[in-house]
Amino acid sequence: MRLRAMILVFPAILLALANPSSSKAEDVFQKNSRLGRGVNLLGWDAIWENPARSRFEAVDFRLIREAGFNHVRVNLHPLRDGKPDSSGKLREEFFKTMDWAVDHALSNQLMVILDFHDDLAISPDPEGKRRDFLAAWTAIAEHCKNCPNTVLFEILNEPAPKFTQESWEEYWRAALAIIRQSNPERTVIIGPAPWNGVGELDHLKLPAEDRNLIATVHYYNPFPFTHQGTPWTGQKDKVGVSWTGREGDMKAVEQELGKVSAWSKQHQRPIYIGEFGTFEKADMPSRAAWTAFVARQFEKQGWSWAVWQFADNFAVFDLANQKWVEPLRDALIPRK
Ligand code: BGC
Repeated sequence: MRLRAMILVFPAILLALANPSSSKAEDVFQKNSRLGRGVNLLGWDAIWENPARSRFEAVDFRLIREAGFNHVRVNLHPLRDGKPDSSGKLREEFFKTMDWAVDHALSNQLMVILDFHDDLAISPDPEGKRRDFLAAWTAIAEHCKNCPNTVLFEILNEPAPKFTQESWEEYWRAALAIIRQSNPERTVIIGPAPWNGVGELDHLKLPAEDRNLIATVHYYNPFPFTHQGTPWTGQKDKVGVSWTGREGDMKAVEQELGKVSAWSKQHQRPIYIGEFGTFEKADMPSRAAWTAFVARQFEKQGWSWAVWQFADNFAVFDLANQKWVEPLRDALIPRK
C-alpha cells in the first residue's frame, strides 16, 4: 500500500477497531440509500380475505420495478387479517399472503419493508392489545428470520392517540427485544409518537448500542393541502387548496426538513420518509408540483422514501385500468 493511501486508511481502521458498532452504522446508512424510492401497498386489498379476489396482481411488482422504484412498504394488518386466536396465534393464510408479497417483490429486485400497519386496532387501546401485538411480532420475526437482509421490519405505523411518549417507548422497546431474539441482524424501522410526526423526532430515544435501526417520519404538510376533502380528518368539505411552490411554500418545507436533518446528524441515524402523498381532491398540477418538490428534498438529504400509496386512495396507480397516474409517477421518478 502506498504511503499516501495508508495515511488515509489507517485512521479509519483504528476508529473501526475502537468502536465496533461504527461499521454497522455505516451499513445501515448504505442500506437506507439502497432502499431509495418506494411505494406503500396492499393495506386494503381483498387479497387478505380471499386471494382469489385480489386486485393487486403479481405483475404489478414488475411494473413497480420497471417504473424505477427500489422497494415496497407492505402495509400489514396482523391483528385485522391474521385474526389472532385466544393464544395470540395468527392464521396460516395471513403468512401465505405475506410470503407471496415478499417473494414477488424480492424476485423483482425490490427491497421489502414489513410494516405493522395495525395502528387503528392498537392505538385506541395499547394495553389491551399489547399481548396480541407482541405475539404477532414473535411469530412474524420467527417466520422471517431466514429472509434476506433486504427485508426490513417496521415496528408500528403511526402510534397515536392513546399512546403517551412513555408508553410508546416501552411498547416499541418490548417489540424490538422480541425481534432481536430471532433476528439479531435485521434492520428495524421505528418512528416517534404521535403519528410518526415530522416534528416529533426529539421524543425518539433509540438504544445507543443498536446501530441497525432507521428512524422514520411521515410528511403530509401543509396538511390542509395534502388531506383536503378527506372525511377521516374532518376536512370533507374543505377543498380548493392549491400548492404552487411559491417561495414561502418551499421555505416552510425546507425548514421542517432541516430539523429532521439536524436530528439525524446529531444522533447518527438514517431517515426514512415512510409516507407522503396527496388526496385525490387536490388539483393535479398542485399534487405533481408538491410531490416532485418534497421527493427531491428528501433525496437531497440522502433519505429514502415511500409514497402513500400504490392504489385505493392517494393512488399513484390506477389498478382497474392497470396504468400509472402519470403526472405523479413522473413527479416521483423524473424521466431522464
Ligand atoms: C393511514 C391511512 C391514511 C394515510 C393518509 C396512513 O398511515 O393508514 O389510512 O389514508 O395515512 O392519511
